Amino acid sequence: MSNLHIACDHAGFTCKEELKTSLHAALADLGLTVVDHGTNGTESCDYPVFAEEACKAVEAEGSMGLLICGTGIGMSMVANRHQGIRAALCTTELHARLARRHNNANVLCLGARMTGIELARAIVLAFFSENFEGGRHQRRIDLFSK
Ligand code: RB5
Repeated sequence: MSNLHIACDHAGFTCKEELKTSLHAALADLGLTVVDHGTNGTESCDYPVFAEEACKAVEAEGSMGLLICGTGIGMSMVANRHQGIRAALCTTELHARLARRHNNANVLCLGARMTGIELARAIVLAFFSENFEGGRHQRRIDLFSK
């Protein structure tokens, strides 16, 4: 089993909770244990605070993450400032599959105000089910990694 570090802001809170509850068993089947870094309510808060906690854990462990804000944009900006993180903001299942296969993304970002819960569920399952293809895609990642 490895950890899946998740975090959200107030805009992503309901989505985070719904995904945690409804995908608990499916994520466990994929070998993932959810570690929740908050936020824990709908009171207005600052997404970088919660993104940082989850991203530090992903980097330290070489594990994976799921970050949810209103658009997914703020979370992806914060996450991609980390050297060990390749975060992908996904709005379709195909984005999710290709982010894993081609970009070896290790953090999935979702926009709870943009993406309905059913689609969000499908995107999460697609992302964490896929594997990196390596080869030419690794060469391209090496070109922008320090
Ligand atoms: C919060 O209102 C909103 O700005 C935030 O959730 C996110 O969308 C930022 O990128």
